[in-house]
Order: sequence, then C-alpha cells, then structure tokens
Amino acid sequence: EKDGHDWFMRKEIFEQPRAVADSLIGRRTTGGLLQLDEMRLADEEIRDLDKIIIIACGTSFYAGMVAKYAIEHWTRTPVEVELASEFRYRDPIVDATTLVVAISQSGETADTLQAIRHARSQRAKVLAICNTNGSSIPRESDAVIYTHAGPEIGVASTKGFLTQLVACYLLALYVAQVKGTRFGDEIDEIMVQLEAMPGHIETVLAQSDAVYELARAHTSTRSVLFLGRHAGYPVALEGALKLKELAYLHAEGFAAGELKHGPIALIEDGLPVLCVVPPRGRDQLHGKMLSGIQEVRARGARTICLAEEGDSTIEPYADDLVRLPRVPVLLQPLVAIVPLQLFACELATALGHDVDQPRNLAKSVTVE
Ligand code: F6R
Repeated sequence: EKDGHDWFMRKEIFEQPRAVADSLIGRRTTGGLLQLDEMRLADEEIRDLDKIIIIACGTSFYAGMVAKYAIEHWTRTPVEVELASEFRYRDPIVDATTLVVAISQSGETADTLQAIRHARSQRAKVLAICNTNGSSIPRESDAVIYTHAGPEIGVASTKGFLTQLVACYLLALYVAQVKGTRFGDEIDEIMVQLEAMPGHIETVLAQSDAVYELARAHTSTRSVLFLGRHAGYPVALEGALKLKELAYLHAEGFAAGELKHGPIALIEDGLPVLCVVPPRGRDQLHGKMLSGIQEVRARGARTICLAEEGDSTIEPYADDLVRLPRVPVLLQPLVAIVPLQLFACELATALGHDVDQPRNLAKSVTVE
C-alpha cells in the first residue's frame, strides 16, 4: 500500500508529479479557453468582484499566500490572505462583491468552516478549494474547485499542497480570462508552463538521495532557519512547518528582506539556513536574495541553497546546493517545496520519529 516506501508521506511526495498532472487534466478547451465547470460563478459575478479574501490554516494558508502573488499579478484584483482562526474575530469587511476562497485539503477544518459561515452571513460568495468530495466546506460553499491529489494519508500535507497551488493558479487564470486583463492573452502560454511542471518535479525528485544525505548530516542540529522572497517566502514558511511537525525541531521561515530587521541576530556559527533562491529575472529579487545569503554566511551560517539550474552566482555562497529546474518565479513553489519536504521527511526518519503520525497532530482538525 505504500508502494515500497517506508512512509505514506514519502509515497505521497513521489506521487506529486501525477497529482499535479491530474489537477490540470481537462482544463483547456480546444479553443484555448480555460474551463472550470465546477466553479459555478457567473461571469458577471466574477467581473463585479472588488476583492478576494483567502482563508485557510497551516499548509493550506501557505498555498493561499502563494495564490495572492499569482492572483494579483494576473488579475489586478486585490487579495488578502488570512488565517481562518483569526478571520471572523476582527469584524472583516466583506460584502456581495467579495469572493472568499477557502482552501482546505480535508474540507473539515473547523476554523475554516466557521470562517466561511461568517463570510456567507455577510453575503460574500464562497469558493472552496478542496481535496475531499462531499466534505463540509464544499457543501457549504457556492462553488468548488476540487484538487485531484487522491487521498492523503500522511498527516503532514505534501501532494495536497501542490495540488492546492495548481487550483489557485487555475482560479487566477480563470479570473484573468473573465475579466479580460492583459494576462488573459498569456493564459495559453502559462498553461503550457504549468503542464511542464510534473516533469520538472520529477527532475527534483531524482535528486532525492543527495537531499537525504544533507538531511542526515543535520541530526544533531537544534534549530533550522528558512529564507525566501516573493513566492519563495511562503515556501520558506512551509518548509519550516514540515520540519517542526515531523522532526520536532525549532524551525522558522523568514522573508529574506526582514533579516536585518531582527532575525539576523539569531545567526550563529554552524546554524543551518535553507535558502529558496528566486529565478534570475529582470527584477531585483535574485540580487537581493543573494546579498541576504551573503550576510548570514558572513556571520557563520551554513547555507543550503535551492537555486535554478545554471545560476552560478550562488556557488560562492552556498555550502550546499540543490538545483531547481528553470521555471517562472510564480510557479517556482511547485518545485522549490519538494526538496524541503524530502529534507524534513528524512531528518525525522533519521531521528527515529513516526513521520506519518507525528505526535500531537491530527489529520483533520475538527475543533476550533
Ligand atoms: C500541515 C498540515 C496542516 C493543515 C491544516 C489545514 O502539514 O497538514 O497544517 O494544512 O490543518 O488543513 P486542511 O487543509 O484540511 O483545512
């Protein structure tokens, strides 16, 4: 049942190329248009949207953070991302021109369910992104995009996360198409890039032995930091969450630009810092990330860098280097999270922990 793997989680990590491919099947019509049949929102309702609020918990929240970058960039619609457990307690501004997007793998998370009930009581439309047919959250939503991860058994979400990202990209492109934004014309091109992602994820998985070796070299570490920028920032947060959940280690993710505003004080000799390096592009992201890496390394950090193929500028500052395929920055989370999942899974295994059933955690959190 685990296909020869020791853990369901490891099996599920290796299922990710298939899960991503399945989540993309049947989305493009022959005319090149995107179709999301389950979406059930009229074009008019989408055109009238003033803002989108994404609500979710844990890993699903980090998928929502990535979604914000994609939705705002492609649709020019303002997006807020909020923890479901905080949403209804702050009297949020929500009305009939707000689309609330609830992201939940299980569809049973109580915090998220309560948040959508509150949103609907304020007349907002609710769209669920969910992996579980017929679960409570999609049943109480106006529309649903189902992810096609298949059942996720490991308590820590992996393929659930990747397929949530795919659903978020599809939602963003669909809104761009209906609203007719400038990116409406590039949908085809972006879909081709998305359809190439399963192959790229395979390329990352092919390096698993090297990542495992790295993980096993860190069994005596007490703390690990993760740095990212832009869409790589939620990847850093998710990488840290995986390590906390599975290896019971202190792990923290930061936006690299925030280092100098405090966290750099944590850096000491030998502290492992995992760095998600953005692709080289016209913007300054890559250069800024590089200087952040130089700063932590100058203070003794041991840098483990995830950087795209062919990026040699990173070599002098990386104690260890994991190569990522060359993909656009907005899609990079789909490949960048994979080594971090493998790292957490292997480090926890080496420490003798039960990776599928981490202590104190449940797969569905049905209490608030
Ligand atoms: C982390 C993890 C949790 C869930 C969170 C929300 O690996 O699995 O953080 O992401 O409890 O669960 P869902 O998506 O089912 O609402």
